[in-house]
Amino acid sequence: MTGVFVTGTGTEVGKTVVAAALARTLAAEGKRVAVFKPAVTGLDEEGEADHQLLKRAAKSTQSDEEIAPYRYGPPASPHLAAAMAGEEIDPSRLLAAARSAASGADALVCEGVGGLLVPLSPGYLVRDLAVDLGYPLVVVASPGLGTINHTLLTIEVARAAGLEVAVVVLTPWPERPPAVERSNLETITALGEVEVRTLPWLDLTDPTGWPRLSWGR
Ligand SMILES: Nc1ncnc2c1ncn2[C@@H]1O[C@H](COP(=O)(O)OP(=O)(O)O)[C@@H](O)[C@H]1O
Ligand SMILES: [Mg+2]
Repeated sequence: MTGVFVTGTGTEVGKTVVAAALARTLAAEGKRVAVFKPAVTGLDEEGEADHQLLKRAAKSTQSDEEIAPYRYGPPASPHLAAAMAGEEIDPSRLLAAARSAASGADALVCEGVGGLLVPLSPGYLVRDLAVDLGYPLVVVASPGLGTINHTLLTIEVARAAGLEVAVVVLTPWPERPPAVERSNLETITALGEVEVRTLPWLDLTDPTGWPRLSWGR
């Protein structure tokens, strides 16, 4: 069983898009792909929810409940969204749900929530879940100004907990990347001692046309 944990430098950086592209790549290789999202918030807002895009990209037949055991309306940190619903996210339930999703598949693509230090419950961070699952990390980041600091912070926080950073993915990568973006890629590679890949702008309505996303080969 192989799996990856897709995290990022923050919220709205492209984690769902990268996780979806990765799920699609694995599915196109003939693998049965399961997707997992520990908690989804912001269901009150317009647009396709993370677990729905992940499911579509992976061609998964999992239920919403199987993909995302905790789902909330308000766009808030998961620990707060859970508190507003009068509950607390239970780490053992999350682990059981992730393992159950993985058990029916050849590969599991798990998307984190926000960044690594976001609390799922008051005492259990996204990073703790990543450690408990034990999958290598995909770190999603923006290509432009500010990304060196955010990305290197994320890599340090990951490695401090013993997590393996498999790759950094910069998204959306411009068709004609300006000097700053190209330099950011080189600087993160050098200072982060990590492989860096890029993902171009994707038409999210049509996964059949997406490029493959892979690394280390
Ligand atoms: N490669 C890409 N192709 C298309 N849209 C992208 C790409 N990268 C980021 N985006 C856009 O950026 C926004 C945030 O992406 P999303 O994956 O939802 O972020 P996160 O999961 O980190 O919150 C979305 O509107 C998404 O469509
Ligand atoms: Mg997301």
